[in-house]
Amino acid sequence: MTDQTTRFNLAMRVLHWSMALLIFAMIFAGLTMVRALEPWQLTLLGLHKAFGMLALLLLLLRFLIRIKSPTPSLPSGMSTIQVKLAKLSHWLLYVLMLIIPTSGLLMQYYAARPIVVLDLFTIPAAMVPHIEYFAVFREGHGLAVLLLIAVLAVHIGAALYHHFIRKDGVLKSML
Ligand code: HEM
Ligand code: HEM
Repeated sequence: MTDQTTRFNLAMRVLHWSMALLIFAMIFAGLTMVRALEPWQLTLLGLHKAFGMLALLLLLLRFLIRIKSPTPSLPSGMSTIQVKLAKLSHWLLYVLMLIIPTSGLLMQYYAARPIVVLDLFTIPAAMVPHIEYFAVFREGHGLAVLLLIAVLAVHIGAALYHHFIRKDGVLKSML
């Protein structure tokens, strides 16, 4: 759905920036916790799982809002292929934001480790561990994160290029 609006609506902007912050923190926490054997490692892992579930919940809300919201068109100076690549990269980001927490969830399910979300509730797991499935989802989680980091580098680079070089309204549409 596209119309003449020049900015994403408030809900989309709030969700974009709060989720960006959350995802950066999750990547940082994930990379730190798998490389440490300190006593805080397990606390961080618990927080990683709980906030990862929050990221999944926020994403579902964002999908619902996205399909009901008009979005600003990209600048008319962009070629058809650039517009297509921009749209593709956004959908790739959405797909990765779905795959990453889902693979984390399934990894824990097949490890037979229930997820305790901040002592509020527990997401149940398989009764017995299935090491092969656990390994597949663990590998998938790590690979999807690497792809996310690569796509984000392009995403952030593109936003800065639009703002400082092309000086069009793309970054402003999300501010
Ligand atoms: C936005 C969501 C998430 C992001 C960005 C994220 C990111 C990461 C990263 C960067 C790592 C380190 C990977 C490595 O270097 O091997 C990691 C590991 C891990 N994540 Fe996540 N994660 C997310 C959600 C979740 C969720 C929802 C769960 C489970 C409920 C989870 C469970 C784990 C576990 C158990 C590990 C350790 C895997 C191992 O032992 O190697 N993650 N995550
Ligand atoms: C410093 C970091 C970031 C900057 C400067 C930035 C900038 C932007 C800008 C300017 C747009 C609008 C693009 C357009 O109109 O075509 C946008 C859209 C988007 N951003 Fe980011 N972003 C950042 C971080 C992130 C992160 C961490 C994620 C998720 C992992 C993300 C996911 C998205 C998605 C999915 C859209 C498409 C919105 C839609 O059309 O529904 N961004 N971003």
